[in-house]
Amino acid sequence: MVIMAVPPSSLTYQPVLKRIAEEIEHTPGRGRPADYIPALAARDPRAFGMAVAELDGTVYGVGDWREPFSTQSITKVFTLALDLAREGDELWEHVGREPSGNPFNSLVQLEHENGIPRNPFINAGALVVTDRLQTRTGDAAGELLALLRAESGNPDLDFDEEVAASETAHGDRNAALAHFMASYGNIDNPVPALLDQYFRQCSIAASCADLALAATFLARHGIRADGTRLLSRSQAKQVNAIMLTCGTYDAAGDFAYRVGLPGKSGVGGGIIAVVPGRCALCVWSPGLDERGNSVAGVAALDRFTTLTGLSVF
Ligand code: DON
Repeated sequence: MVIMAVPPSSLTYQPVLKRIAEEIEHTPGRGRPADYIPALAARDPRAFGMAVAELDGTVYGVGDWREPFSTQSITKVFTLALDLAREGDELWEHVGREPSGNPFNSLVQLEHENGIPRNPFINAGALVVTDRLQTRTGDAAGELLALLRAESGNPDLDFDEEVAASETAHGDRNAALAHFMASYGNIDNPVPALLDQYFRQCSIAASCADLALAATFLARHGIRADGTRLLSRSQAKQVNAIMLTCGTYDAAGDFAYRVGLPGKSGVGGGIIAVVPGRCALCVWSPGLDERGNSVAGVAALDRFTTLTGLSVF
């Protein structure tokens, strides 16, 4: 049942979030936390939090919405924004903008496509973006952390050294992707230095409240919390479009069908989503489906757009 098909601007999201949390409690088969990074495997799959941040920074939340979790691939949205802001369209000579239809860590398309990854959100594409940001800034992960701290208003956000070390110890596949692209001349920095930046990037711990606030610049068409512009309106549209088509990997079609919003998942169990011109959301629950997306997270966003009528369609 639609609570409010076209919510007025004064809609408070709290009753919607409360209702979703109640429904999610009964979601069967909540999936399994990622186990290929041992530091993530220990999280309780029943944890659940959800936050909505309005354009003025008002945040609503439910459940474990203030509990920090591992942001992982959600950070790919922010490094993409930082790099696009600096180098503009030149980036697209090094990474594509098409859905891959393959798992996030897949190697298969790279050889046929000359070391140019399909999009910035699969691991290969994210490595290219981080490499380019590293070349331009000398500290890609530090730039990212500064952006997340500023947009969330939370100066305590930080890298999780245990998660970064755990991923370094199990990083053979990402190393293979980076070396393979380097063989095509599509990576500038030494691979070990790039992997260090990438694993630190993925290790940042943040809560649903932090990430909903941090993503709000995409709902504000590129304007940061302090009123300055990070992305042009057109670039903000581009990032949102790539989230919609590529943000949940080989499940992006199903996510668009069920949720109808630009979204980006991470194997820590978080998903951010954007309602352009309206609000940004983040949901977290560590149990993943076989494609690496949070089971309860997708279900909660599905309910959110159904109950509020808010979607890009
Ligand atoms: O590269 C990796 O394997 C992780 N650090 C990030 C993967 C991730 O979150 C993919 N998402 N669903």
